[in-house]
Amino acid sequence: MFVILNVLLKPLEVVIMSAKIDEYKIALMGFGTVGRGFTEILIKNREWLRETYGLKAKIVAICDIYWGSIYDPAGLNEAKALELVEKTKEEKILEKEYDVPHKGWNAVKTIKETNANLVVEVTWTNLKTGEPGLTHIKTALKEGKHVVTTNKGPIAVAYHELKPLAVENQVFLMYEGTVMSGTPVIRFLREAISGCHIEEMRGILNGTTNFILTKMEEGWTFDDALKEAQRLGYAEADPSGDIDAWDPAGKIAILVNTVMGGKIHPKEVDREGIRGITREDVQKAIKEGNRIKLIAHVRKEGGEIKASVKPQKVPLSHPLANVMDVTNALTVSTDHLGEVTVIGPGAGRIQTGQAVLTDLIAIHRYLTKGIKFYA
Ligand code: HSE
Repeated sequence: MFVILNVLLKPLEVVIMSAKIDEYKIALMGFGTVGRGFTEILIKNREWLRETYGLKAKIVAICDIYWGSIYDPAGLNEAKALELVEKTKEEKILEKEYDVPHKGWNAVKTIKETNANLVVEVTWTNLKTGEPGLTHIKTALKEGKHVVTTNKGPIAVAYHELKPLAVENQVFLMYEGTVMSGTPVIRFLREAISGCHIEEMRGILNGTTNFILTKMEEGWTFDDALKEAQRLGYAEADPSGDIDAWDPAGKIAILVNTVMGGKIHPKEVDREGIRGITREDVQKAIKEGNRIKLIAHVRKEGGEIKASVKPQKVPLSHPLANVMDVTNALTVSTDHLGEVTVIGPGAGRIQTGQAVLTDLIAIHRYLTKGIKFYA
């Protein structure tokens, strides 16, 4: 159904030259769950990063459609920004209460005209067009600024357009947090098991729906479980992205496009969500020795890739049946290693902030070694 572009994991695109950055000046695009989670982690680890990796980083700009846009070339007081938005729900609070040299810049101006050398793109996910994140990322790459993103939309719909832009402009495009939040999947597949050919992947790739299914088994209603997932920062801004399985379809597309050498749009994934599943269905399945899980699956068949996300009854003896709450898991079938499984948190504020941090450290390590770009 979908054409395979090549059958091998792609090697890193590298150029051996020195391009070390003395200080990472970050433009943070989006100050929602992930943006704030990352900011909190950065504040907590700033000294440790400097001592351990010689990595200096500060946020110089925050641009958020709701909280407003602020920029100080010397660096923002990040704790103050966190405090302001967490104390009030007031629109444009950053612009109203924060005394900085520049306010109200739009996203493109922020990316182009601030002194940031790294753009962290964590705005909301749009799996149809990738926007507005796609424009933010393209603009940053064209400006020669490194990009770290956890935004699934741009990578799911336009990876094959973004990768050449990163290579051409010799910058990094890092997206570890797009699949399974801070649990390492992308670099694990591209680096740790490089040399293996991946034939098939199967897993649970959405934290919110796995959390809802777990809670329904415990007796919660669907609506209460969804509200709790939203409160805990697991769900998408529009939770139908989770419930109707757009989110795991996007993640499957990311894996196909970035590590399986294929080309697929999320809308081409055979997709069914959990909207029709009741507490009674979940509890009946258990009595029959099964658990209902939203299973994402992709496999190569001849010259084609077949991808699907559907609720399935999984026997309780199967490892995926025992992946509960917000935990996700991915089993990869390879030629040299047989099956390899990665398991860990699939969503969450700090967990996804960790993905941004690990990408930042990876960029620093690559640059220190003279590796100049990667996408
Ligand atoms: N809404 C997503 C999930 C967030 O629940 O898995 C992490 O991608």
